[in-house]
Amino acid sequence: MTVLATALDTGGAAYAQRRAEMLAKLAEVEEAHGQALAGGGEKYLTRHRGRGKLPARERIELLLDPDTPFLELSPLAAWGSESPTYAVGAALVTGIGVVEGVECLITANDPTVRGGASNPWTLKKALRANEIAYANRLPVISLVESGGADLPSQKEIFIPGGALFKDLTRLSAAGIPTVAVVFGNSTAGGAYVPGMSDHVIMVKERAKVFLGGPPLVKMATGEESDDESLGGAEMHARTSGLADHLALDEPDALRQARRVVARLNRRKAHPDPAPAPPPKYDAEELLGIVPGDLKAPFDPGEVIARIVDGSDFDAFKPLYGTSLTCGWATLHGYPVGILANARGVLFSEESQKAAHFIQLANQRDIPLLFLHNTTGYMVGKEYEQGGIIKHGAMMINAVSNSKVPHLSVLMGASYGAGHYGMCGRAYDPRFLFSWPTAKSAVMGPQQLAGVLSIVARASAAAKGQPYDDEADAGLRAMVEQQIESESLPLFLSGRLYDDGVIDPRDTRTVLGLCLSAVHTAPVEGARGGFGIFRM
Ligand code: COA
Repeated sequence: MTVLATALDTGGAAYAQRRAEMLAKLAEVEEAHGQALAGGGEKYLTRHRGRGKLPARERIELLLDPDTPFLELSPLAAWGSESPTYAVGAALVTGIGVVEGVECLITANDPTVRGGASNPWTLKKALRANEIAYANRLPVISLVESGGADLPSQKEIFIPGGALFKDLTRLSAAGIPTVAVVFGNSTAGGAYVPGMSDHVIMVKERAKVFLGGPPLVKMATGEESDDESLGGAEMHARTSGLADHLALDEPDALRQARRVVARLNRRKAHPDPAPAPPPKYDAEELLGIVPGDLKAPFDPGEVIARIVDGSDFDAFKPLYGTSLTCGWATLHGYPVGILANARGVLFSEESQKAAHFIQLANQRDIPLLFLHNTTGYMVGKEYEQGGIIKHGAMMINAVSNSKVPHLSVLMGASYGAGHYGMCGRAYDPRFLFSWPTAKSAVMGPQQLAGVLSIVARASAAAKGQPYDDEADAGLRAMVEQQIESESLPLFLSGRLYDDGVIDPRDTRTVLGLCLSAVHTAPVEGARGGFGIFRM
């Protein structure tokens, strides 16, 4: 074993300050999570319960195996949305949980938020959930009760929203089971959620599944009808055949859903590994590693030592390209190759080392974990002449064409093309989480404001116009502030650029759940098939 040593002075003032700053940021994240949990608020929750219905999260709880975890995804979707402002969480709960011993992707509409209607963020969140189910071959269970499209924002959702139903049938075609449990309204397009699912359960006297409700039918054909005869659970179970199972009430529907999953004959591609030893160091100390000011470097070895099994880590090329730490470990028993930024900037050596390492992981079928704290690839004459573009391109090529599952955690900075090379969102990591200290943008706020100012000054000079230095200072300050706020994790999570902002202390648990989900599908690396590596 190669147990990592620690140099973290947990009794020092610097540690205490970093910890205090992290806790302050965590408190903001907690507040945002509180908003997501509150859903549509007390008034609508009371009304919902008064109708004898359970809230979305309680439905999920009854569905899951007792005392098993639920990895909630994108809980902060829609955070910071502007005109119109949508509720944090986007009226939908998604996540991974265990049903009858089977890891499943679960989605549940939150009917306390605008009748569970889907707004543009709900759609993004639902599509992301489908993507996760597809990549990891997780059965999908949809707990349905939704007013369909949020009508005022229909222009944003109607056309792209068709993908929801396409996804369901493609999952089914790929042999990934889909189960719909209908608790209430599921009309118009929403009717295709049960319509496209392999298994359908409907709650008696509650489910309403029709292409058009009584008023629409009256308008279209003049026919007089009622909810029950058009789309009630009894009608669908006895007459149309859309429902496979009629449930007496909500708990009965969830019990029946569990029976359906129990009969799926589902096996993971890779059996679960034996229990693994915990890290040698306390996860609590992860709060005091990342400095509030990301300009100060930190050793990612201190993070690795607190998340991998037994703090056991074998570094790859530790003497070469030292601003990127690469190496092998196991996490909850799963082998992982780790790439972690050690001093912000990526040089040519780091890029080539990463490309080499990623190919090794592919040859050995080992998932990769990217721990981000990068300001991007090095700029400047010396580095351009040294081929930094082609070397960075090698790393991006390797990441893009790698076939092993990738997990990304934004611990600190994730700027510029460094975000891409480290498997940022657009590079399809199976999962991507942020710490409250993360920041991601095309470049740092000061740098971006400075670049804009230099360009504006040059443009004025080219036109022979005077340059207003006072206005420039004002503009720089404003741009800096805007970029800073747009780089922060709550903002990025609100836009679904990650799968959630996590407490650093939970990193090992979250990654363990992700690795378990990932191993439901076969883990196979690319044996070739990379693009041309420019040498
Ligand atoms: N778009 C926008 N807002 C919607 C909505 C939708 N599709 N469905 C409901 N809402 C809003 C309501 O206006 C109401 O807002 P308010 O409380 O500020 O007045 C709130 O959500 C709750 O709706 P309410 O009707 O009071 O809830 P309910 O639980 O009694 O009924 C529905 C829920 C979904 C059955 C009912 O609202 C409905 O029929 N909605 C329209 C369904 C539809 O035809 N959708 C189009 C399908 S593509």
